[in-house]
Amino acid sequence: MTTFKRMTPKVLPYYLREPPGVIAKILVRLATCPFEEVAARLPLRGSLLDVGCGAGIFTATAAQMGFSCVGVDVDPRKIETARRATRGAAMLEWIRNTGPVHTPRLRKADDLPVEYVLLQPEELYSPGDRRFDAVVINDVLHLVEPRRREDFLRHYRGLLAHRGRMLIKTMREDAGWRIRIHQAQETIMVKGLRWTAGASTEPPPIRWLTDTLSAMNLSVRVEDISEGYPYPHVLVTAEDAPG
Ligand SMILES: C[S@@+](CC[C@H](N)C(=O)[O-])C[C@H]1O[C@@H](n2cnc3c(N)ncnc32)[C@H](O)[C@@H]1O
Repeated sequence: MTTFKRMTPKVLPYYLREPPGVIAKILVRLATCPFEEVAARLPLRGSLLDVGCGAGIFTATAAQMGFSCVGVDVDPRKIETARRATRGAAMLEWIRNTGPVHTPRLRKADDLPVEYVLLQPEELYSPGDRRFDAVVINDVLHLVEPRRREDFLRHYRGLLAHRGRMLIKTMREDAGWRIRIHQAQETIMVKGLRWTAGASTEPPPIRWLTDTLSAMNLSVRVEDISEGYPYPHVLVTAEDAPG
């Protein structure tokens, strides 16, 4: 649970003005998702698109790391929370930087390099000519209807800059009881409580995912990043192949 120990003190203050229910969800997310493992595979710097950014935990963190970020999501409640969190993050940065010694790193709230875009339910983000050094899809693919997944991936692969990197965090579909527990929880969140927007709850088979990404001229690597977590987390890194 490295993420929980290391990221909670940094990220939680962004959300402290949210209702207790939202704060509880952020804590659960920090405890169950290995965000740090994902962040460790980002390129050194550049622009980042966070597809299905949710409340912006990863987006705001990447923005603080220096990435110029766009977060997109189909859920208006999540986008609103993410926007408020960015203001919280910027305020925190301002307080840190104006501590006992003033430093020239002082940034105003609206200078934090992050922007959030609300998508319509089946919309794919289309930013014109803009391309991204990193495209992150963290725990989103299982929510996309299976017959739309290939187009979804092809679209976001098309937004990758030359030599850019896609990081797709999902769950191993063949992980026995661990994946069944995750699916039961997602079914409650998506179909019961409707806390998460989604058209499915089944993760894509990893073999299908790697074949699909390879066919899009990406060089693909799969890593198990589940150590210390209850869920079977898998990270698929797909890089725009040189040439
Ligand atoms: C489990 S949450 C993960 C949020 C965030 N990526 C994170 O790691 O904390 C899944 C998010 O995907 C969003 N989502 C579902 N289908 C989507 C789609 N077709 N396009 C964009 N976002 C989508 C949901 O609204 C939700 O915020």
